[in-house]
Amino acid sequence: MQISIEPLAADARKPFPQNLTFGKYFSDRMFTQKWTAEQGWYDAKIGPYGPFTLDPSTAVFHYAQEIFEGTKAYRRPDGNINLFRPWENIKRFNRSATRMAMQQVDPEEHLEAIVQLVTLEHEWVPNQDGASLYIRPALIATEPALGVHASHSYLHFIILSPVGPYFATGFNPVPVYISDDYVRAVRGGVGDAKTGGNYAASLYVSEQVKELGYQQVLWLDAAERRYVEEVGSMNIAFVYGDKRIVTPALSGSILPGITRDSVLKLAPDLGYTIEEARLEVSDILRDLAKGEITEAFGLGTAAVVAPVSKFGYKEKEYVVGGGESGPVAKQLFQTLTDIQYGRVADPYDWTLTIKV
Ligand code: COI
Repeated sequence: MQISIEPLAADARKPFPQNLTFGKYFSDRMFTQKWTAEQGWYDAKIGPYGPFTLDPSTAVFHYAQEIFEGTKAYRRPDGNINLFRPWENIKRFNRSATRMAMQQVDPEEHLEAIVQLVTLEHEWVPNQDGASLYIRPALIATEPALGVHASHSYLHFIILSPVGPYFATGFNPVPVYISDDYVRAVRGGVGDAKTGGNYAASLYVSEQVKELGYQQVLWLDAAERRYVEEVGSMNIAFVYGDKRIVTPALSGSILPGITRDSVLKLAPDLGYTIEEARLEVSDILRDLAKGEITEAFGLGTAAVVAPVSKFGYKEKEYVVGGGESGPVAKQLFQTLTDIQYGRVADPYDWTLTIKV
């Protein structure tokens, strides 16, 4: 693939934002390429960041045939830039594409597009503590037609956003409400694909629980409302007795998180035992009440590790670890971010360094 690089007008350069939040600011350039059955992937280019012009009948607006990814570029102490396990995001992107009946991208070309874009935009990778450049690839159905069928054309694009912590409260623990009347995803549905509809489905309840003073929703399985699945837009893990980390086994309706997978791989090296299991919410609440569960946290690219302060369920509250962030969450956060930012050696070969 030849990526054509379009020049950037001097007045297209934006100032670097003062206060980084999550996903509000975007760099000067973006990657785009298009697909049709006749031409395959074509017109790969990196050009100025800006709006698309799409016909109002475009399939993505009506039937939500779209997928996305999230990964980050981190500023290393030596000034170079690390990507973290980008290969895993690309594999998941293509798995999501298949589930949504969309055209897959070429994995190597997708990585090449990320590397070229981040290299050109390297000044957008923050060097503030806890900040990074969030990379958002997406694929949308662009056929202008209202028939319900897989689109015959697609647009693949990658945008970059310099970000601070995902939660305004930083690493502070968040209160979580366990939803037992609404669900996020069903087994056999699209819960294990990174498609916008899963996030849209979560918004109504997420807004409702804010009224009750909670910040995130813990999702249960759709069939029985009995098993723990995800928290907010993250995977969830519980810690028993400061040593045993337990997380729901992938069920088909849980997104296979890359942070989750990284924790499963590195936690045993830190002396923890790991268990993937079907977790009954009633057992979790019992073990929380007995104090056997010492910590709970979400795991995701955006927040990395997000400790839970308490769970609300059917008008009762279950405080976790005195409502404070615990040592396991802190150690996992520190260890993972040390590898991501290149502050320590990467024994797992998870990072790809871009020299700038
Ligand atoms: C993540 O934790 O990386 C997510 O999936 C959140 C993202 C949708 C903003």
